[in-house]
Amino acid sequence: MNTVVLNNPLIKHKLAIIRDKRTGTKEFREIIGEIATFLCYEAMSDAVLEEVEIETPICKTKAQKLDENKYAFVPILRAGTGMLDGLINAIPNAKIGHVGLYRDETTHEPIKYYYKMPQDIANREVIVLDPMLATGGSACDTISMLKEDGVKKIKFLSIISAPEGIKKIEELHPDVTVYTACIDEKLNENAYIVPGLGDAGDRIFGTK
Ligand code: PRP
Ligand code: URA
Repeated sequence: MNTVVLNNPLIKHKLAIIRDKRTGTKEFREIIGEIATFLCYEAMSDAVLEEVEIETPICKTKAQKLDENKYAFVPILRAGTGMLDGLINAIPNAKIGHVGLYRDETTHEPIKYYYKMPQDIANREVIVLDPMLATGGSACDTISMLKEDGVKKIKFLSIISAPEGIKKIEELHPDVTVYTACIDEKLNENAYIVPGLGDAGDRIFGTK
């Protein structure tokens, strides 16, 4: 399975808070950002570093640095933008592209309304952000669009995933690794994740 699941007690604790329907917008948004930062650290565990010479207050030494110009973040609108600050905290110089998709309420198929990438996107490793991986339609369409633009290395970060969405990415895009805070039980008849946390966009932006 090309999926990495965070197995950390503090993440489980934070998930319990955002799943709770009584949790308000401010706390919900803050925790989404915190978990996103944690997912970013996990997704960077294969990063190639460059050796540099620096001077500490004590002496000269060799250290290792990341070339931040090799990366781009692509949040899927709207809910993916809720994860963005958490990623920018970790890699401030990454460029950012946006994909606008919403799910049709009856078919649950993603409908595209916006797509804007940095000009040099094909030369960057792309980290796609969306808190909810449900049927996997939005994720797979986004990954296909990025591949059409020439992107070679793509990772997908989600807070909560359904088994159905993970399976779809594994089948259509086996080269893409999914980093997720947890895998839930199933989808319901409306293609919402069970137990999930409800509509991530509405809870981040307070629209319901
Ligand atoms: C939600 C979520 C994902 C998508 C996941 O977006 O943020 O983008 O559904 O579902 P899928 O895996 O079945 O495609 P939604 O369509 O609710 O739009 P929003 O972010 O604008 O609220
Ligand atoms: N989108 C959400 O925001 N929540 C779900 O459970 C499924 C799709």
